[in-house]
Amino acid sequence: MGLGTFIKSLCALGFVLPLGQCIPATKLVDKRAALDTWITSENAIALSGVLANIGFTGAKSYGAASGIVLASPSKTNPDYFYTWTRDSALVFKALVDQFINTKDGNLQLQIDDYIAAQAKLQTVSNPSGSLSNGAGLAEPKFMPDGTAFTGDWGRPQRDGPALRATALIAYGRWLLANGYSSTATNFVWPLVNNDLQYVAQYWNQTGFDLWEEVNGSSFFTTAVQHRALVEGSAFAASVGKSCPNCDSQAPQTLCFLQRYWSGSYVISNINTNNGRSGKDANSLLGSIHTFDPNARCDDITFQPCSPRMLANHKVVTDSFRSIYGVNSGIAAGSAAAVGRYPEDVYYNGNPWYLCTLSAAEQLYSALYQFNKIGSIDITSTSLAFWKAIYPSAATGTYTSSSSTFTALTSALKSYADGYVAIIQKYTPSTGALAEQFDKSSGAPLSAVDLTWSYASFLTMNSARNNVVPTSWGAATANTVPGSCLASSATGSYSAAPAPSFPVFPCTTASTVSVTFNVLVNTSPGQNIFVVGSIPSMGTWDTSKAVPLSASMYTSNAPVWYGSVNLGAGTSFSYKFIRKNSDGSVVWESDPNRSWTVPNSCRTAARLVDTWR
Ligand SMILES: *[C@@H]1O[C@H](CO)[C@@H](O)[C@H](O)[C@H]1NC(C)=O
Ligand SMILES: *[C@@H]1O[C@H](CO)[C@@H](O)[C@H](O)[C@H]1NC(C)=O
Ligand SMILES: *[C@@H]1O[C@H](CO)[C@@H](O)[C@H](O)[C@H]1NC(C)=O
Repeated sequence: MGLGTFIKSLCALGFVLPLGQCIPATKLVDKRAALDTWITSENAIALSGVLANIGFTGAKSYGAASGIVLASPSKTNPDYFYTWTRDSALVFKALVDQFINTKDGNLQLQIDDYIAAQAKLQTVSNPSGSLSNGAGLAEPKFMPDGTAFTGDWGRPQRDGPALRATALIAYGRWLLANGYSSTATNFVWPLVNNDLQYVAQYWNQTGFDLWEEVNGSSFFTTAVQHRALVEGSAFAASVGKSCPNCDSQAPQTLCFLQRYWSGSYVISNINTNNGRSGKDANSLLGSIHTFDPNARCDDITFQPCSPRMLANHKVVTDSFRSIYGVNSGIAAGSAAAVGRYPEDVYYNGNPWYLCTLSAAEQLYSALYQFNKIGSIDITSTSLAFWKAIYPSAATGTYTSSSSTFTALTSALKSYADGYVAIIQKYTPSTGALAEQFDKSSGAPLSAVDLTWSYASFLTMNSARNNVVPTSWGAATANTVPGSCLASSATGSYSAAPAPSFPVFPCTTASTVSVTFNVLVNTSPGQNIFVVGSIPSMGTWDTSKAVPLSASMYTSNAPVWYGSVNLGAGTSFSYKFIRKNSDGSVVWESDPNRSWTVPNSCRTAARLVDTWR
């Protein structure tokens, strides 16, 4: 073909800038390949970043009990060294979906630990209440050892039980499909049932939103509650039980969910008077966590590809364009950094990694839906969204055989990739993801290694690769009752038994990441190392010892930590040493310590010692 035709056909493929110019093909391909390469390496960092924050074996989880997810290893400015029900459930939903896709036996053991930890946490009485009437289930956060957090907090937070039910159901479905129905019935269902009873009883009461600031009704909370009740009822049936409270309340939660729609975007917080616009990444997160790969572009369930949610995507993301320095010079219709909500003042209000990634994920999920459905409907509601990324867009229905469909989906993919490219730009070379990045300089800010940031990278990447989660039944749960009623169904609650899991077949790890922890009081200028009998630990040569980090050291828990990859089954001797600022080396007292790396499916292990 001639050059003119070639360029025209690229335009037809949607490689166009907002003003309608075409991007040269080679440049575009290079850019996408470079992004692909970075995403692949960052995804591995994100997975290990998640696992590092989960007790008992995670490299940065000293102090966390087995199966407990720390929000971040950060103990000061800010102190996120707790476990949140919401964050943990979102993290484990991501890990369950990874496990279903990869069959990674190490992940499965972590999932089992999580379930065992939740069985205990559900019974812990706390300032929100106890299990007896369900109220304690909505306590937002607990101590890393699984005891109650008794300080002041924005409580209750009613999304936690719903999200935990969804994570557990995802694993429960896998158990059922793979011949472990008694495990699903005896150990997963009782936990899920408590959470479902909670949602059915309390969905119509105000509580704190996912950012823990607004006491009212939150779109994210209502959306995930509706999802949990719908899939909870189906899961109940699949284990030979029923959930009448799910069935009576789900339609009412869906009815209430419609109330958040303003006509042009989602008002994320209602039943409150907080003076905000309601434009909030709350709604982007609501959409991605209720995405159903079998649903159509349904406005009623706010699917990612629905006209409502595309319109909302534009309104929410546009609200950050003029208020962040990092967004200056970015044209309308190109991806920009996204924060929580424009009125945010926490750390002076900045973009968040997980919010920007959720903007990308919604678009990748929408793309999946358009391709699966085989057509795009541009309506008056979604027209402004489409025009921003494809200026000649017009209302109408475009089937997959049309060049307009090709152009629209291509523009959508490039636009979604743009959000990931922003994350790439503001991620340090280590790949570490904090909570926020500075709105002016782009430097990482607030909590380091935020578990949720890493999990949001994993789910974004799965959506980008069309690796979709299991359907939750949205396609048949989209009938809104004729009138919305204030309602509730009183539940009954009981402690779930401590689970006992069968030995699942898995591949024994050949290499284990062994984390060394030593509790030792040190003064500034002193550094702690571990040295041992094997080459990877320096063969007793103090100049080749493994350096440990004091980044989690506090006066109460003076912990130094560091990890070494060792072959499973390796036996070795070791000691901790202190290097003083003058270069002198102090050894621990005798005897030498010794250990054998376990041979199991776990890819991580932890040793906790006290300096001798
Ligand atoms: C309870 O439900 C009714 C009917 O949908 C609604 O008008 C009301 O705002 C809801 N209140 C809360 C706090 O959810
Ligand atoms: C939250 O708001 C409700 C009224 O909607 C009120 O009853 C409750 O006390 C409030 N909770 C807190 C912690 O302020
Ligand atoms: C510790 O190991 C080193 C190196 O093998 C050895 O020289 C030393 O005697 C050992 N110490 C004790 C107390 O066994």
